[in-house]
Amino acid sequence: MGSVSLKIGDGTARFKRASICSSAVNLLMLFSVITTNLFALYAFTYTPRDHPQLGHLVHHTPKNISLISEQVALILSEIESSQKKLAQMEKEILGYESIDLGRPNLANELKVFLQHHLLPLGKDSRTGITEMVASVGHSCEKSVDLLSQYMNYKINGPCPDDWSLGQKLILSGCEPLSRRRCFAKAIPKVGLESFPVSLWKNVSEKIYSWSGLGCKNLACLNSKKLNRDCAGCFEITKGYETQKYVKVRSKNDFLIDDVLAMGSNGGIRIGFDIGGGSGTFAARMAERNVTVVTATLNVDAPFNEFIAARGLFPLYLSLDHRFPFYDNTFDLVHAANGLDVGGRSEKLEFLLFDIDRVLRAGGLLWLDNFYCSNDDKKRVLTRLIEQFRYKKLKWVVGEKINGAGKSEAYLSAVLQKPVRV
Ligand SMILES: *[C@@H]1O[C@H](CO)[C@@H](O)[C@H](O)[C@H]1NC(C)=O
Ligand SMILES: *[C@@H]1O[C@H](CO)[C@@H](O)[C@H](O)[C@H]1NC(C)=O
Ligand SMILES: *[C@@H]1O[C@H](CO)[C@@H](O)[C@H](O)[C@H]1NC(C)=O
Repeated sequence: MGSVSLKIGDGTARFKRASICSSAVNLLMLFSVITTNLFALYAFTYTPRDHPQLGHLVHHTPKNISLISEQVALILSEIESSQKKLAQMEKEILGYESIDLGRPNLANELKVFLQHHLLPLGKDSRTGITEMVASVGHSCEKSVDLLSQYMNYKINGPCPDDWSLGQKLILSGCEPLSRRRCFAKAIPKVGLESFPVSLWKNVSEKIYSWSGLGCKNLACLNSKKLNRDCAGCFEITKGYETQKYVKVRSKNDFLIDDVLAMGSNGGIRIGFDIGGGSGTFAARMAERNVTVVTATLNVDAPFNEFIAARGLFPLYLSLDHRFPFYDNTFDLVHAANGLDVGGRSEKLEFLLFDIDRVLRAGGLLWLDNFYCSNDDKKRVLTRLIEQFRYKKLKWVVGEKINGAGKSEAYLSAVLQKPVRV
């Protein structure tokens, strides 16, 4: 069964599918529940042989009553302990457990960061909170040794050059990551251009952090297909990247101006691009005075730094994280293969609901060349999308024959969020 993977823009987060082992534990749990209940049933209806009527017991001596209550107490404690065991098993299966600050070899900074602090003046009347709690992903528990390594530094000193360790933690579900009291490695950002020239201008590659990456320069990145939406996407002065969204290559490509023309009620002013590669979508939108936030991690390339150098807004966030935006915020959400979720449709469903949440009524969801590896996937995606009852302003399914001679389907769509009452 192994693991399924979720492509996050440029990255891949992994989660374990239920293994044979965990189904065995499930059976064990079921068995345990049944036996506990049978035991309870037996105990409550049990009639001693010499007293066939249970009702008689009540009229007997107090000694017998105390015997019964002893038995009941025994049963209750048995049930309680089974429930505890069950909860423990469930925790193990789901992998949810909070970090045990008492465990040995935990970095002290991690303890300091995670300690709860009672508010000095008691309950805050405006927010109703009584203590300050540090925010860190519950899944950090699974990688607590790595997290402890991440939190091992000199306070007020320079942080280790370990952004890739931080990202590794995020990709394993440790998100949000803990804060630190050290100075992140500073890279002088020399030679930045002013806006809007910055959108399409090369800058020295020395301003990016290359530690922990396979490639050490842009030429190397451009020679690779980093993900489905970024093949040579760091080449922004010539080639395909400069044509994206303004020239069509196939019927699945929509022109940015055509989509903008579909905006209603104030039009398209702010947008959110999911897994937006090097930020070219946001750049084209910026030229049209539309502000777009681009969510991406730095998987195999310095995407965030590159987008920022173009004068655009990168959001360093995995797609497992709830979007840090309020409800009904965006006029437009653009997503391509960043949405690709292997195997589990619930995962994609949660993501689509979060997209729906941040999109305003009348806002547009632009699904751009979403790759469906097979018919099944296309069907699941279509069913998921249709349950939101968006208005299909555009819906194009294109087929391409891949290198192995198999047909591949691509879905492009522009969907309008309805007003729901
Ligand atoms: C329960 O009460 C009965 C009748 O009073 C008595 O004969 C019997 O020994 C008691 N049983 C126990 C276990 O004390
Ligand atoms: C910009 O940088 C790329 C490498 O990413 C290079 O191939 C290209 O020639 C450069 N363009 C200009 C105009 O310097
Ligand atoms: C963007 O805004 C600027 C300043 O308001 C304006 O001059 C320009 O025409 C606008 N561009 C577009 C494509 O609307």
